[in-house]
Amino acid sequence: MRINKYLSGCGIDSRRKCEQLVLDGRVKINGKKATELATDVKDGDYVEVDGHAVTVAHKLVYIMLNKPKGCICSLSDEHGRKTVLDIVKVKERIFPVGRLDYDTEGLLLLTNDGELANKLAHPSSGVKKTYYVRVEGVPTAAELKRLRDGVTFGGVKYAGAEVSIVDEDGGNARLSVTISEGKNHEIKNMIESLGRRVMLLKRVALGGLRLGGLSRGEWRYLSARETERLKAL
Ligand code: URA
Repeated sequence: MRINKYLSGCGIDSRRKCEQLVLDGRVKINGKKATELATDVKDGDYVEVDGHAVTVAHKLVYIMLNKPKGCICSLSDEHGRKTVLDIVKVKERIFPVGRLDYDTEGLLLLTNDGELANKLAHPSSGVKKTYYVRVEGVPTAAELKRLRDGVTFGGVKYAGAEVSIVDEDGGNARLSVTISEGKNHEIKNMIESLGRRVMLLKRVALGGLRLGGLSRGEWRYLSARETERLKAL
């Protein structure tokens, strides 16, 4: 089996990220660095990532976290910032599905199921993600139409979103924005294309899952039904 598929199946990360581990020289097979993506793993091979033995994950876990602001969605941070794995501590080697920015809160999935993570995080998956967005000022009807039609910002095209104003408060608006791409900083860039600033960003739903009453910084395992629904997407 190809090395990236093997690592991903063991719950290390998505196939694409596992390719990067190989290219970065972090993977060894039987004590020898494997830097070729075409490398195969055979029965009985001893595989390590960063010096830790890799074994097939026995149990796949699916977790929903209400990510607070002030932590990152990487497995570790060279600047010593808090990561989501400082909050969700389980024995399985889980990783976040996609990313929320350091200052974004809300629904984040974590799993050791590399296949599902890969599928959900890929921009072509079309999985819907809904955000509450507190915006400086109140966007005009013409601005809302631009968001619905799709905008370009910084040379990147963003597909049209489902947008509505939830409420207005102190001259600012709270929007509900649903996107299905998931490009880097997508919501902030869409709003910035209007010349406006995002004051607070929170993801409240993803592919039929809702954050519900989960408090900031709390996490829970998905139910079997929720997991099945995600896999069927
Ligand atoms: N869009 C953003 O701009 N940031 C996020 O964290 C998520 C979506």
